[in-house]
Amino acid sequence: MLNSLLNKEFFTKEEVVYLLNLEAKDEIGLLLKKADQVRSVRSGNEVSIYGMLDFSNNCVQNCLYCGLREDNITLPRYRMSPDEIIDAVKQITNMGVNSVVLQSGEDTEYDTDLMAYIIYSIKQKCNVSITLSIGERGFDEYRTWKIAGADGYLMKYETSNPKLYSIYHIKQKLNDRLNHLRFLKTIGYKIGTGNIVGLPMQTVEDIADDILLYKELGLDVAASGPFIPSSHTPYRSKLQADLNIILKTIAVTRLVLSEVNIPSTTALATLNEEGRIKGLQAGANVVMIDFTPSIYREKYQVYANRKCLDENPLNCRSCLQVQIESIGRKISTFPFIES
Ligand code: 5AD
Ligand code: SF4
Repeated sequence: MLNSLLNKEFFTKEEVVYLLNLEAKDEIGLLLKKADQVRSVRSGNEVSIYGMLDFSNNCVQNCLYCGLREDNITLPRYRMSPDEIIDAVKQITNMGVNSVVLQSGEDTEYDTDLMAYIIYSIKQKCNVSITLSIGERGFDEYRTWKIAGADGYLMKYETSNPKLYSIYHIKQKLNDRLNHLRFLKTIGYKIGTGNIVGLPMQTVEDIADDILLYKELGLDVAASGPFIPSSHTPYRSKLQADLNIILKTIAVTRLVLSEVNIPSTTALATLNEEGRIKGLQAGANVVMIDFTPSIYREKYQVYANRKCLDENPLNCRSCLQVQIESIGRKISTFPFIES
């Protein structure tokens, strides 16, 4: 029964829920193994790298789970200057990483022109694919930044359940977020989204809906990460996600979307010592390395005890390289520049 289900090409919601509900160790093992096989048909033994640059931790939103929320007045805030950002990207590309994610809270200090200047300057100086992860902005801004050279846009919907979405996000609406993602795709961005697995009140049915919505949106990147309680937030005392449910989510995502890029996230590495490798063995084909300069990195406290706070990203790269090679995979040198 399970074997024939795992070999299907299309999955109903009931089937997705069934797979997410697997509890027996050997059955979970079969699911992860199948997802790993599907991943290997797609990308062989190559693991791609996204270089993350968290350039501002200012945010006007108040998401109940996130340490960067505006009401967290205990968090020292920072903004990197355009020159700092451009220099940091140069360093990232010097290390052979050709895909960067410029990430921040929702911070309109970086207005249309300033972001366009940063994107354009980077494109003049570096052979790099740029993905923006800066929240909901104006449709005209998205257009301007595309023309300036941006390639991708990452904007997680966190949950596809509209009721939960409005509880977690207070000021924001799920429909707006989905319309923004669809618009970004129509004007030529590669789009990425994701959910947080293990949020308070979330059910397995909700996670199944999250995965099926990934499919509907035509994603380039599907990033599921585990919920980790963050101090100074309303959800500071909630339970963190269980490792198995996030691994099952990654695996089912791979079965449902065989071609999508799936990162094994820093949150997964924070949740479990071997989380990142386990993610790569459950269907993920991408790792994210944090290249935020160390003076800022510890202030990007989405949640506590973020992994990989090593001062030197070179150490992260070589540490990851060892881990990745230990499972018979290798870092691919020029990810996502082919578009
Ligand atoms: N646990 C896990 N992920 C979180 N994020 C924010 N808060 C948490 C948390 N407590 C993620 C969200 C968001 C990104 C900034 O960090 O997915 O998109
Ligand atoms: Fe801001 Fe994003 Fe955190 Fe929400 S999840 S508070 S939008 S940084």
